[in-house]
Amino acid sequence: MPRVVFVRPDGTKQEADAADGASVMQAATANLVPGIVAECGGELSCATCHVFVDEQWLAALPARSEDEEEMLEATSEEPTDASRLCCQITLDASLDGIVVHIPKTQK
Ligand code: FES
Repeated sequence: MPRVVFVRPDGTKQEADAADGASVMQAATANLVPGIVAECGGELSCATCHVFVDEQWLAALPARSEDEEEMLEATSEEPTDASRLCCQITLDASLDGIVVHIPKTQK
């Protein structure tokens, strides 16, 4: 059962367990993590599930798709190289303990 560590803008951390195959976004919404709005429910059409992936985990993730790249241009907070839409990050054992930072705003 992969674990995700969400870091809020004020630095407080919240851990969430998720099923193998769930997305980071699903882990957030199932555990009522504030700051992940996920308006479209993971359809890659809202950009309100923006997170900054902690530097040490970036290399463990597959590259962003073209569609994700495009949607990242619509995020409220300026995207960086560490930006991902967390509905596009699928969890498995290799990502157990992944750390993601929640942006200050999503809309
Ligand atoms: S939940 Fe809408 S783009 Fe990720």
